[in-house]
Amino acid sequence: MKILLLGKAGQVGQELRHALPPLGQLVALGRGDGDLRDQDALLRTVAAHRPDIIINAAAYTAVDQAETDQNAAAQVNAQAVATLAAYAKDTHALLVHYSTDYVFDGNKSQPYTETDPPHPLNVYGATKLAGESAILASGCDALVFRCSWTYALHGKNFPATILRLARTRNRLDVVADQIGAPTPAALIADVTARAIVRHRHHPLPGGIYHLAASGATSWHALARYVVAGAAARGAALALTPDRIRPIASKDYPAAAKRPHNSRLDTTRLSDALGLRLPSWTEGMDRFLDQLSARGEFT
Ligand SMILES: NC(=O)c1ccc[n+]([C@@H]2O[C@H](COP(=O)([O-])OP(=O)(O)OC[C@H]3O[C@@H](n4cnc5c(N)ncnc54)[C@H](OP(=O)(O)O)[C@@H]3O)[C@@H](O)[C@H]2O)c1
Repeated sequence: MKILLLGKAGQVGQELRHALPPLGQLVALGRGDGDLRDQDALLRTVAAHRPDIIINAAAYTAVDQAETDQNAAAQVNAQAVATLAAYAKDTHALLVHYSTDYVFDGNKSQPYTETDPPHPLNVYGATKLAGESAILASGCDALVFRCSWTYALHGKNFPATILRLARTRNRLDVVADQIGAPTPAALIADVTARAIVRHRHHPLPGGIYHLAASGATSWHALARYVVAGAAARGAALALTPDRIRPIASKDYPAAAKRPHNSRLDTTRLSDALGLRLPSWTEGMDRFLDQLSARGEFT
């Protein structure tokens, strides 16, 4: 079985490079192997590898920048995805793709299910929704995992930013009225590998699955958790949890609007695969332990 991974350098892409090799022959490509904005080149590249499975972990993920860079965001998040879906349909390949909680407007009071109507608030969310829609419209064999609040030891993410700021700042204002589940990229990669194995033997119903750690927190509570956890592991920080002030989204200047409720109901996925999605605190504790083991807190 030949697996083609796109986006090998991203948070999820790097974790997939660890999780996928036992499943088959893995070819992992990054931006240096071709820009996803060039649809003809993308099609040529994919066709040259003749994959049985295409995993697209590449995306335009700069949420605020997308507001003023709509074309690039649409080319990567929608048009390139449509190209991959058309190829997968023609060749009977499986397409695995990732989407986001930002397809929702966050007005629901409960966690979102896969059947809730999407209504993105920003360009990033709209382009990701267009990508999902292209996959579903193509009729290809596809698994689309909607994820939330992703982080990893590598790459740009919220916990890493908070830890960087905590070294030099002794006060911080953090948004407290957006809630979601911080989800490790490694969990996304592990579940992806498990879903592929399962799908090969007993095909899963295709389409969209919500994939997130269980439980929920706010950005503000998460920032406090990370700073307290790093301090408990010996990090010398200028910031203490009590000096992290809660603020409202409307008081935090950002180009893109974000949903207040990013919680995803993962029942469909956990039932389909028979798995338990660990709590966000388990993932965050492991992340802090790994940073500590790497000597980042000494
Ligand atoms: N991060 C989150 O909080 C979050 C939340 C929900 C869903 N998701 C979704 O989960 C998936 C993986 O996210 P992630 O956090 O791993 O993203 P990431 O770390 O930003 O990685 C995205 C990758 O896509 C590549 N890429 C971007 N534009 C490209 C282009 N024009 N041509 C070729 N490659 C391009 C980037 O290349 P470079 O390394 O060269 O820039 C990067 O390696 C995405 O579909 C994302 O929408 C993420």
